[in-house]
Amino acid sequence: MRVFVADHPLIAHKLTLLRDEATSQPTFRQLVEELVTLLAYEATRSIRTESVEVRTPVTTTTGIRLARPLPIVVPILRAGLGMLEGMTRLLPTAEVGFLGMQRDEETLQTITYARRLPEDVAGRECFMLDPMLATGGTLIAGITYLLERGARNVTVICLLAAPEGLSLLSTTFGGRDDVAIVTASVDERLDEKGYIVPGLGDAGDRLYGVV
Ligand code: URA
Repeated sequence: MRVFVADHPLIAHKLTLLRDEATSQPTFRQLVEELVTLLAYEATRSIRTESVEVRTPVTTTTGIRLARPLPIVVPILRAGLGMLEGMTRLLPTAEVGFLGMQRDEETLQTITYARRLPEDVAGRECFMLDPMLATGGTLIAGITYLLERGARNVTVICLLAAPEGLSLLSTTFGGRDDVAIVTASVDERLDEKGYIVPGLGDAGDRLYGVV
Protein backbone atom coordinates (compact mmCIF):
# COMPACT_ATOMS: atom_id res chain seq x y z
CA MET A 1 0.00 0.00 0.00
CA ARG A 2 1.36 3.39 -0.97
CA VAL A 3 0.82 6.47 1.21
CA PHE A 4 1.34 9.91 -0.25
CA VAL A 5 1.26 12.99 1.98
CA ALA A 6 0.82 16.00 -0.28
CA ASP A 7 3.34 18.63 0.69
CA HIS A 8 2.39 21.96 -0.84
CA PRO A 9 2.03 25.41 0.77
CA LEU A 10 -1.44 25.94 -0.71
CA ILE A 11 -2.63 22.62 0.71
CA ALA A 12 -1.20 23.46 4.15
CA HIS A 13 -2.78 26.94 4.01
CA LYS A 14 -6.25 25.61 3.17
CA LEU A 15 -5.96 22.83 5.72
CA THR A 16 -5.15 25.34 8.47
CA LEU A 17 -8.30 27.29 7.61
CA LEU A 18 -10.31 24.05 7.70
CA ARG A 19 -8.99 23.19 11.14
CA ASP A 20 -10.01 26.59 12.54
CA GLU A 21 -13.21 26.16 14.54
CA ALA A 22 -14.18 29.73 13.60
CA THR A 23 -14.37 28.87 9.88
CA SER A 24 -17.99 29.15 8.76
CA GLN A 25 -19.88 26.29 7.13
CA PRO A 26 -19.99 27.84 3.62
CA THR A 27 -16.27 28.58 3.75
CA PHE A 28 -15.57 25.08 5.09
CA ARG A 29 -17.43 23.52 2.13
CA GLN A 30 -15.62 25.71 -0.36
CA LEU A 31 -12.23 24.89 1.16
CA VAL A 32 -12.94 21.13 1.11
CA GLU A 33 -13.70 21.32 -2.61
CA GLU A 34 -10.54 23.31 -3.34
CA LEU A 35 -8.39 21.01 -1.23
CA VAL A 36 -9.76 17.89 -2.90
CA THR A 37 -9.00 19.29 -6.35
CA LEU A 38 -5.39 19.81 -5.27
CA LEU A 39 -5.19 16.31 -3.75
CA ALA A 40 -6.86 14.82 -6.82
CA TYR A 41 -4.06 16.21 -8.94
CA GLU A 42 -1.61 14.04 -6.98
CA ALA A 43 -3.98 11.08 -6.70
CA THR A 44 -4.39 10.85 -10.48
CA ARG A 45 -0.68 11.06 -11.27
CA SER A 46 -0.58 7.40 -12.39
CA ILE A 47 -4.06 7.26 -13.90
CA ARG A 48 -4.26 5.00 -16.97
CA THR A 49 -4.15 6.72 -20.34
CA GLU A 50 -4.19 5.61 -23.99
CA SER A 51 -2.86 7.14 -27.20
CA VAL A 52 -5.21 9.03 -29.44
CA GLU A 53 -4.81 10.81 -32.78
CA VAL A 54 -5.72 14.47 -32.68
CA ARG A 55 -6.08 16.90 -35.58
CA THR A 56 -4.91 20.38 -34.67
CA PRO A 57 -5.62 23.33 -37.00
CA VAL A 58 -2.06 22.79 -38.28
CA THR A 59 -1.40 19.05 -38.45
CA THR A 60 -2.21 15.64 -37.02
CA THR A 61 -0.40 14.45 -33.92
CA THR A 62 -0.63 11.83 -31.22
CA GLY A 63 -1.92 12.77 -27.79
CA ILE A 64 -3.35 10.87 -24.86
CA ARG A 65 -6.73 10.54 -23.23
CA LEU A 66 -7.98 8.73 -20.16
CA ALA A 67 -8.07 5.00 -20.87
CA ARG A 68 -11.42 3.21 -21.21
CA PRO A 69 -13.19 2.08 -19.12
CA LEU A 70 -13.21 5.42 -17.31
CA PRO A 71 -12.46 5.66 -13.60
CA ILE A 72 -15.11 5.54 -10.90
CA VAL A 73 -15.30 8.07 -8.06
CA VAL A 74 -16.82 6.68 -4.86
CA PRO A 75 -17.65 9.10 -2.04
CA ILE A 76 -18.40 7.51 1.34
CA LEU A 77 -21.65 9.00 2.61
CA ARG A 78 -22.16 11.36 4.25
CA ALA A 79 -18.98 13.42 4.61
CA GLY A 80 -17.38 12.14 1.39
CA LEU A 81 -20.17 13.84 -0.54
CA GLY A 82 -18.59 17.18 0.32
CA MET A 83 -15.52 16.08 -1.65
CA LEU A 84 -17.32 15.02 -4.83
CA GLU A 85 -17.52 18.38 -6.57
CA GLY A 86 -13.80 19.04 -6.06
CA MET A 87 -12.97 15.62 -7.54
CA THR A 88 -15.28 15.70 -10.55
CA ARG A 89 -14.03 19.18 -11.43
CA LEU A 90 -10.76 17.43 -12.30
CA LEU A 91 -12.33 14.21 -13.63
CA PRO A 92 -15.63 15.34 -15.21
CA THR A 93 -16.08 12.15 -17.24
CA ALA A 94 -15.71 9.76 -14.30
CA GLU A 95 -18.69 7.71 -13.24
CA VAL A 96 -19.83 8.09 -9.65
CA GLY A 97 -20.90 5.39 -7.20
CA PHE A 98 -21.86 5.75 -3.55
CA LEU A 99 -21.12 3.76 -0.42
CA GLY A 100 -23.15 4.56 2.68
CA MET A 101 -21.09 3.71 5.72
CA GLN A 102 -21.12 4.93 9.24
CA ARG A 103 -19.32 4.30 12.45
CA ASP A 104 -21.18 3.02 15.48
CA GLU A 105 -20.06 5.70 17.96
CA GLU A 106 -20.00 3.21 20.85
CA THR A 107 -18.34 0.17 19.33
CA LEU A 108 -16.50 2.18 16.60
CA GLN A 109 -17.48 -0.67 14.21
CA THR A 110 -18.46 0.07 10.59
CA ILE A 111 -22.05 -0.34 9.41
CA THR A 112 -22.74 -0.38 5.64
CA TYR A 113 -26.24 0.91 4.87
CA ALA A 114 -26.05 1.62 1.11
CA ARG A 115 -24.13 0.34 -1.91
CA ARG A 116 -24.84 2.10 -5.22
CA LEU A 117 -22.12 1.39 -7.76
CA PRO A 118 -21.95 1.03 -11.56
CA GLU A 119 -22.48 -2.59 -12.68
CA ASP A 120 -19.04 -2.97 -14.20
CA VAL A 121 -16.55 -2.16 -11.46
CA ALA A 122 -14.24 -4.93 -12.68
CA GLY A 123 -10.96 -3.69 -14.12
CA ARG A 124 -11.64 -0.05 -13.29
CA GLU A 125 -9.64 2.49 -11.32
CA CYS A 126 -11.58 3.66 -8.28
CA PHE A 127 -11.05 6.88 -6.33
CA MET A 128 -12.65 6.69 -2.91
CA LEU A 129 -13.46 9.92 -1.07
CA ASP A 130 -13.57 10.11 2.71
CA PRO A 131 -12.33 13.21 4.52
CA MET A 132 -11.12 11.53 7.72
CA LEU A 133 -9.03 8.36 7.93
CA ALA A 134 -9.52 7.81 11.66
CA THR A 135 -9.64 4.19 12.93
CA GLY A 136 -9.49 2.92 9.34
CA GLY A 137 -12.47 0.56 9.80
CA THR A 138 -14.71 2.27 7.26
CA LEU A 139 -12.02 2.46 4.63
CA ILE A 140 -10.98 -1.16 5.08
CA ALA A 141 -14.61 -2.20 4.52
CA GLY A 142 -14.96 0.11 1.49
CA ILE A 143 -11.67 -0.83 -0.15
CA THR A 144 -12.28 -4.54 0.44
CA TYR A 145 -15.70 -4.29 -1.17
CA LEU A 146 -14.36 -2.54 -4.29
CA LEU A 147 -11.50 -5.04 -4.63
CA GLU A 148 -13.97 -7.93 -4.27
CA ARG A 149 -16.01 -6.38 -7.08
CA GLY A 150 -12.84 -6.58 -9.20
CA ALA A 151 -11.60 -2.96 -9.10
CA ARG A 152 -8.23 -2.61 -10.81
CA ASN A 153 -7.00 -0.41 -8.00
CA VAL A 154 -8.34 1.82 -5.23
CA THR A 155 -6.90 5.23 -4.36
CA VAL A 156 -8.35 6.84 -1.25
CA ILE A 157 -8.31 10.61 -1.00
CA CYS A 158 -8.67 11.91 2.53
CA LEU A 159 -8.04 15.30 4.07
CA LEU A 160 -6.53 13.99 7.29
CA ALA A 161 -5.19 10.65 8.44
CA ALA A 162 -4.46 9.32 11.93
CA PRO A 163 -1.35 7.15 12.40
CA GLU A 164 -3.50 4.45 14.05
CA GLY A 165 -5.76 4.17 10.98
CA LEU A 166 -2.86 4.21 8.55
CA SER A 167 -1.16 1.47 10.48
CA LEU A 168 -4.30 -0.73 10.43
CA LEU A 169 -4.68 -0.18 6.68
CA SER A 170 -1.06 -0.97 6.17
CA THR A 171 -1.42 -4.23 8.12
CA THR A 172 -4.47 -5.13 6.02
CA PHE A 173 -3.26 -4.08 2.54
CA GLY A 174 0.49 -3.73 3.17
CA GLY A 175 1.73 -6.10 0.47
CA ARG A 176 -0.57 -4.79 -2.28
CA ASP A 177 0.36 -2.19 -4.84
CA ASP A 178 -3.26 -1.67 -5.94
CA VAL A 179 -4.20 0.33 -2.83
CA ALA A 180 -3.02 3.88 -2.22
CA ILE A 181 -3.81 6.67 0.24
CA VAL A 182 -3.40 10.34 -0.62
CA THR A 183 -3.80 12.79 2.25
CA ALA A 184 -3.02 16.38 3.13
CA SER A 185 -1.67 15.48 6.58
CA VAL A 186 -0.92 12.66 8.98
CA ASP A 187 -1.99 14.07 12.35
CA GLU A 188 -0.79 13.16 15.84
CA ARG A 189 -3.25 10.56 17.11
CA LEU A 190 -6.85 9.56 17.83
CA ASP A 191 -8.53 10.58 21.06
CA GLU A 192 -10.63 8.24 23.21
CA LYS A 193 -13.74 9.01 21.13
CA GLY A 194 -11.99 8.20 17.85
CA TYR A 195 -11.52 11.83 16.78
CA ILE A 196 -8.35 12.84 15.01
CA VAL A 197 -6.08 15.16 17.06
CA PRO A 198 -5.53 18.02 16.32
CA GLY A 199 -7.97 17.26 13.46
CA LEU A 200 -10.84 19.48 12.42
CA GLY A 201 -13.73 17.99 14.39
CA ASP A 202 -16.58 16.08 12.82
CA ALA A 203 -16.21 16.61 9.08
CA GLY A 204 -19.83 15.68 8.30
CA ASP A 205 -21.19 18.09 10.91
CA ARG A 206 -18.95 20.90 9.73
CA LEU A 207 -20.02 20.33 6.12
CA TYR A 208 -23.72 19.73 6.64
CA GLY A 209 -24.62 20.53 10.24
CA VAL A 210 -25.16 18.35 13.29
CA VAL A 211 -27.65 15.48 12.80
N1 URA B 1 -14.55 11.47 11.63
C1 URA B 1 -14.58 12.81 11.72
O1 URA B 1 -15.44 13.47 11.12
N2 URA B 1 -13.65 13.43 12.47
C2 URA B 1 -12.68 12.77 13.15
O2 URA B 1 -11.85 13.40 13.81
C3 URA B 1 -12.67 11.36 13.03
C4 URA B 1 -13.61 10.73 12.28
